[in-house]
Amino acid sequence: MEENKRDSWGSNFGFLLAAVGSAVGLGNIWGFPYKMGKNGGGAFLIIYLALIVIVGLAVMLGELVIGRKTGMGPVGAYKKLSKKYALVGYMGLLSGFLILSFYSVLGGMVGKYMISFLISMLSGGSTFNNLTSAEFFSNFTINGWEMLIYCFLFLLATTFIVMKGISNGIEKFTKVAMPALAVLLIVIITFVLCQDGAVEGLKFMFKPDFSVYSSSSDIGFFTVLKTAAGQMFFSLSLGMGCMITYGSYLKKNTNLEKNAIIIPIADTFVAIMAGMVVMPAVFAYGLEPSAGPSLLFISLHEVFVTGMGGFIGSLMGFLFYLLVFIAAITSSISLLEVCSSFINDKKQEEHKKTNRKLPTIIISLMVFVIGVPVALDGLGSSNAIINFQPFGYCWLDFYDLISEGILMPIGALIMSLIIGWGFKTKIIKTEIEEGGLYKLKGFVFWDICFKIIVPITMLIILYAQFQDFGIIK
Ligand code: PFF
Repeated sequence: MEENKRDSWGSNFGFLLAAVGSAVGLGNIWGFPYKMGKNGGGAFLIIYLALIVIVGLAVMLGELVIGRKTGMGPVGAYKKLSKKYALVGYMGLLSGFLILSFYSVLGGMVGKYMISFLISMLSGGSTFNNLTSAEFFSNFTINGWEMLIYCFLFLLATTFIVMKGISNGIEKFTKVAMPALAVLLIVIITFVLCQDGAVEGLKFMFKPDFSVYSSSSDIGFFTVLKTAAGQMFFSLSLGMGCMITYGSYLKKNTNLEKNAIIIPIADTFVAIMAGMVVMPAVFAYGLEPSAGPSLLFISLHEVFVTGMGGFIGSLMGFLFYLLVFIAAITSSISLLEVCSSFINDKKQEEHKKTNRKLPTIIISLMVFVIGVPVALDGLGSSNAIINFQPFGYCWLDFYDLISEGILMPIGALIMSLIIGWGFKTKIIKTEIEEGGLYKLKGFVFWDICFKIIVPITMLIILYAQFQDFGIIK
């Protein structure tokens, strides 16, 4: 059969927008502010930034290099490096499935909030039927059918974009979505920071509380480290082959070393900006900043409906959830691309004709099925359709722990060992200098990261994680 030419990004800028779009998502707007607030504010930020410099940059570069060198998604890429590495690729694929299945449920929920605020804006505030924010949230989340429908619609939109391909689908979409996201962020941040009491939120977020590092605090250094690391992997879309997949569509004339630095900087910048929306809003209206996951849905809903109220409240609510929705969808398309590229890579290996549409639809349906328990357990509510909780976690947390907590750090650990010790970091140099356009600038730095810093940090994190599960003492 005839072999197809692999799709590629139209330009490096298009790639950067898509990669930053993948990185910027629910993790930034939702996870980052509350994890930072709960884990010592500035004390957390310092560890987070340090982890990005000594781990994130190298893992990002490693993934981009492996992707561009092999021209395949994680499974095909690791197999191409050596058959014995295939398992790492499969672990990445499994993470992709698990993350996308809960991500779609959350994305669907954001969609529901966005639509509700739009209707409220157009109808003079009648949508919420005088329900409190907590009631609106629990009524919605225990309504399994509604959760499933919104999740399905979110996946449908994701599938539609991915089906259109890299340059025609993902790149075209992110070229509109990312500037829109930037504008929305600026509008909302300006509005929120002008509210009375907003400064308290900034203090909460940034004020370093170094006592959290101490073993006598109920948080402790390892918890801060572990939380920051998990957040970093998730936020930068690392450790599961997403950047391998996006990198596989890059042409040889792109500067991978520069790209590997720009993406984390942009992602961190947006995370901090998002925090500067969420925390000041919560403080300005006297709500609880450490509410955790419900912050995005209950606390912020209350800010818009009760705090601001009226047309302005609904308008700001709509714009805020639209922003979150855009961020979520530019991430979910990258997750789906990781999963569906697997089928085409396999066909390519077997020299069969590739086709984008069918594999994408099949994979989306599989993701939907895996996500059913997440949509039906009411995020752990006892009134939900599904009451079974694996190991005492709600399904969303369970999938998240397996992927972000275990598979991603293991993936990064093995990748750094392969690059640093298996290839003596030379693979990085050869791939970056391929084509003769660029010279690798920081070989010594990358070499130390791959050989020593990343593996040791990952081992510490995995140790802390397993200790948490009670697997080791
Ligand atoms: N980085 C995304 C976020 O912060 O929400 C989530 C994500 C996307 C994780 C893509 C992993 C991934 F491959």
